[in-house]
Amino acid sequence: MIISSATDFREAARRRLPPFLFHYLDGGAGAEQTLRSNVDDLQAVRLRQRVLRGSEQLDLGVKWFGREYALPIALAPVGLTGMYARRGEVQAVRAACHRNIPFIQSTVSVCPLSEVAAQASKPIWFQLYVLKDRGFMRDVMRRAWELGSTTLVFTVDMPVPGARYRDAHSGMSGPNGPLRRVLQAMTRPRWAWDVGLFGRPHDLGNISAYRGNATGLADYIGWLGANFDPGIAWQDLQWIRDEWQGRLVIKGILDPEDARDALAFGADGIVVSNHGGRQLDGAPSSAHALPSIAEAVKGQMTIFADGGVRTGTDVFRMLALGADGVLIGRAFVYALATQGQAGVERLLAIMEKDLRTNMVLTGVQSVREIGPHLLAR
Ligand code: GLV
Repeated sequence: MIISSATDFREAARRRLPPFLFHYLDGGAGAEQTLRSNVDDLQAVRLRQRVLRGSEQLDLGVKWFGREYALPIALAPVGLTGMYARRGEVQAVRAACHRNIPFIQSTVSVCPLSEVAAQASKPIWFQLYVLKDRGFMRDVMRRAWELGSTTLVFTVDMPVPGARYRDAHSGMSGPNGPLRRVLQAMTRPRWAWDVGLFGRPHDLGNISAYRGNATGLADYIGWLGANFDPGIAWQDLQWIRDEWQGRLVIKGILDPEDARDALAFGADGIVVSNHGGRQLDGAPSSAHALPSIAEAVKGQMTIFADGGVRTGTDVFRMLALGADGVLIGRAFVYALATQGQAGVERLLAIMEKDLRTNMVLTGVQSVREIGPHLLAR
């Protein structure tokens, strides 16, 4: 099939992946209102067309936490990335390093940090959940630091997993899940060969490294539910701020008051996010939440945003709404599932081209100039 956008990669991934994996990636919480509004609200953002502004030398570079990157884009942490392509986190980090953008590795990755860091030519950012087992949190933070990660992305919007109804239908969860997943894999021979057979071991690499034995994926959702800690509050987390010597980004902020609390906590950045519509269905879209958060904390910390970003135009829109940088999750995994590392690099090239076109058409020279003055009112 012809691939010219993230939407095409989505369709290609749908054809290639066993349905339980595709729907786990593609789906969201409840009736998926927030999931849809992430895309719809962002696409509804109107940009101001400006002409004859002499935008020839374009600068797409950004500087985050003392390092320079080529694009205002980072690869978001996505659990089980290594199930979508053979050793998926390794392929994704190679693409990110090659394009000089950050790769944020999920706690619940298939490949352990050590495997990914060994293939990365630049430091990776590490994402951590609030888990009941503080020993695990300490251990994995230490591992990440020793492997050269200096930016910790701390996800706070998943004290309990959201209600993902699609997963029950697809076989990702539910009583007959294991059998249904095997049967589905047989209907997707390319995936079964490439990932099912040669992409092993299939486990939660970081958890296995800590526990010293394989932590399988059979009850992934159950593991998440059993290990997240809904009892946590800001004051319980102070030890993380005290112990972690690097930069700290709080992911999952949707309210200006929480953004101020994150700042008071000592965070260097936040990710404005509703977890890709996978948690509180009915929460506002990121595009909706972002302007008031930017008003509250812009300039005092680095503001990232995710949710619904499928094109370079969407990246531009997030920056115009007040973000300093944008995370892409599903979009890059669709590309990874389809063409591996090359797919991710291709997607980034498509987004970069889009972004450049939009900069010319709005009359800006640098992505750092993009802001609310470029929104059409
Ligand atoms: C995990 O982070 C998920 O959203 O399923």
